[in-house]
Amino acid sequence: MTNLLRIDASAQSEDRSLTRQLTSLFTQTFLEVAPDTTLVSRDVGHSPPPFVDGRFIHAAFTAPDQREDWMADVLAPSDRLVDEVVAADIIVMGVPMYNYGMPAALKAWIDQVARIGRTFSFDLERGDFPIEPMLSGKRLAVLSSRGEFGFAPGGIRAHKNALDPAIAACAHYFGVDETAIESIAIEYQEFKDDRHRASIDQARARTAALARRLAAEAQTARKRAEFARLGA
Ligand SMILES: Cc1cc2nc3c(=O)[nH]c(=O)nc-3n(C[C@H](O)[C@H](O)[C@H](O)COP(=O)(O)O)c2cc1C
Repeated sequence: MTNLLRIDASAQSEDRSLTRQLTSLFTQTFLEVAPDTTLVSRDVGHSPPPFVDGRFIHAAFTAPDQREDWMADVLAPSDRLVDEVVAADIIVMGVPMYNYGMPAALKAWIDQVARIGRTFSFDLERGDFPIEPMLSGKRLAVLSSRGEFGFAPGGIRAHKNALDPAIAACAHYFGVDETAIESIAIEYQEFKDDRHRASIDQARARTAALARRLAAEAQTARKRAEFARLGA
């Protein structure tokens, strides 16, 4: 069984949101190829997770066996989100560019998922790199949309892209190797011209192809695991 976690971060509803349309296309295509997939949808755009505050930090950095009852309550939303990430094999994110970065709702999700003792460990014995991720081997597809254009490496606005680098920097918290992130973006949305229409067509074709490939890979991995289990 493959577990697919779909995260939508657009504040808009699907009839207006290009990223939600891409995550829908990805999900539908994936389920066509791998129908035995378990899909979990987490809509942070419409139901944003709480922001990190002093109580969250106090609770998260208190050892589990020393936590007071209120700390469990404060950490409950984070635990739910972490559980979803732990269960996921593949994560697909619909991420609009807002003010050159990710929507605050998605940043709030990352802040809830980056949890000491659950998604990373910290040990100064490791020298200059004390943080070690606790999850690994997951795949991530980032499906984005932007009003302007030229945000890819080498593009005329690449230096303003604070979205993709921020997700890549945090990907280890959700078990994704930075080099394994698949990114597809619609551009020119504010121009509403032929370049925008071509960008949508291209992004949709790439999204469907990516979903087919990741679903086929997941099917193969599942069959291999099944053979190994039967042979054991
Ligand atoms: C609050 C807000 C901020 C935005 N900031 C940027 C930006 O900094 N750069 C850009 O290229 N487009 C920007 N846009 C345009 C969006 O990235 C674009 O409309 C995208 O399609 C939104 O995703 P959605 O269609 O899934 O809602 C912004 C849009 C909104 C609503």
